[in-house]
Amino acid sequence: MSEKKGGKLTVRHFRKKKDKGEKIVALAVYDAPSARLAEENGVELILVGDSLGMAVMGFKSTISVTMEHVLHHCVAVTRGATRALVVADMPFMSYQVGVEQALLNAARMLQEGGADAVKLEGGKDLAPTVARLVAAGVPVLGHIGLLPQNVLTSGGYRVVGRTDEEVARLTEDAKALEAAGVFGMVLECVPAAISAAITAAVGVPTIGIGAGVGCDGQIQVMHDVVGLFPDFLPKHAKRYADLSKLMGEAFARYAKEVEDSVFPGPENSF
Ligand code: KIV
Repeated sequence: MSEKKGGKLTVRHFRKKKDKGEKIVALAVYDAPSARLAEENGVELILVGDSLGMAVMGFKSTISVTMEHVLHHCVAVTRGATRALVVADMPFMSYQVGVEQALLNAARMLQEGGADAVKLEGGKDLAPTVARLVAAGVPVLGHIGLLPQNVLTSGGYRVVGRTDEEVARLTEDAKALEAAGVFGMVLECVPAAISAAITAAVGVPTIGIGAGVGCDGQIQVMHDVVGLFPDFLPKHAKRYADLSKLMGEAFARYAKEVEDSVFPGPENSF
């Protein structure tokens, strides 16, 4: 695979960006047209995140998301994205049972989903699994800090890294993942100063969400960025458009024109 302009990006590209001090732009996206738009407008890493459970399936958390759900969206995203690196999120309980299960499910993401890499939530405890995946040829993006798949045991969504103990654990996790061979790692909801210190301590890129500007890159959920969650915007997100409003207005105009027999007009009829 080539990294020349227009060619498919590989994991090496992101390591080089860190070395050059260039920021990585990543976005969680779930369908082909959005993936195409994202990569045409500066997104180089697309995550088929298990956040699709909330963003497009109406679930309350990522716990309900299955391999089949992620694969379905991954197939769509990899049809839309030709240059961006596509990372498939390994859903809850698709890799925790054992290394063999993780290997087989990661292979499905690459072979059936067309993904270029996978993401797993977890630190030091997960490092042996990560090492086996990497040794088998599967590029892995780590994910530490707030782990949404642990929400039932952690007791909610909260910032991680506010105590000395948590900071030590995060640093240990980051180093263990790097040693296991991840090509990068997501830091979710980690205080900015702690993320900056971890970013300086590891040689692979850190990609933050709610982790401050000191990370090597940023990732957000598409629906937050374009305003498709009208009722809630997490503190770590910024709304760059209000698509809910635009869509609502379009639906209302369509409904009115149908009711008034204005649509379809002669130009829409045969
Ligand atoms: O599922 C997801 O979208 C994620 C990002 C928030 C990093 O894991």
